[in-house]
Amino acid sequence: MSEFSAPVITVDGPGGSGKGTVTQMLAKKLGWHLLDSGALYRLTALAAVRQNVSLDDEDALVRVAASLDVAFEPTPEGEPAKVILAGKDVTADIRTEACGNNASRIAVIQSVRDALLQRQRDFQLKPGLVADGRDMGTVVFPDAPTKIFLTASAQERAQRRFSQLKAAGVSVSIDAVLEEIRVRDERDMNRSAAPLKPADDAQVIDSTGLSIQEVLDRCMAAAGRV
Ligand code: DC
Repeated sequence: MSEFSAPVITVDGPGGSGKGTVTQMLAKKLGWHLLDSGALYRLTALAAVRQNVSLDDEDALVRVAASLDVAFEPTPEGEPAKVILAGKDVTADIRTEACGNNASRIAVIQSVRDALLQRQRDFQLKPGLVADGRDMGTVVFPDAPTKIFLTASAQERAQRRFSQLKAAGVSVSIDAVLEEIRVRDERDMNRSAAPLKPADDAQVIDSTGLSIQEVLDRCMAAAGRV
């Protein structure tokens, strides 16, 4: 990182580790920008499905990724940004399990990842950026001064996801959620393109059994901001 570029805190880890919530809180607390890189993979998957592009058609997927017409619109206090794709609010559409699975499928394709790379780096603006994803510290912002790898047991992540789904009125069994988490972890960690793993210089935080406030405090400490 040059002395002229904005500082970055990268937070990588598997789904359900609490990254989404903690990165939003971190960005708010610091007054920094937030990059939800998973949303870009989800948006690419959603746009592909809506344009009848097969998730196996690499060239067409790259075109979809490169031409995404997306905007993240800030909302009042504490709420996640609205996600607008081609003028339409898709905030809820990109959060479905199906969209997450499709995102995980297309994320194994190196050329799709390349097509999204610069778009992610463009978020590095002053006064600073909190970047949430799988390869923020390893690939997208390798020079970030603070890298965090946030994890939690698969059981705990399944429990959190199960509670979220139940609150949203979705009927599903905890075993089904756990199985889906295992499949997604397996794919994200074992792909050859930017696999999910801590950067060599990342600080690993295990959020199993911690409250969100405790996780936030540990992240602030990791960033030297306590
Ligand atoms: O964090 P999420 O659940 O919104 O991410 C959806 C999928 O996108 C995830 O299964 C893997 C992929 N992803 C990725 O490969 N690299 C990132 N930096 C972020 C997400």
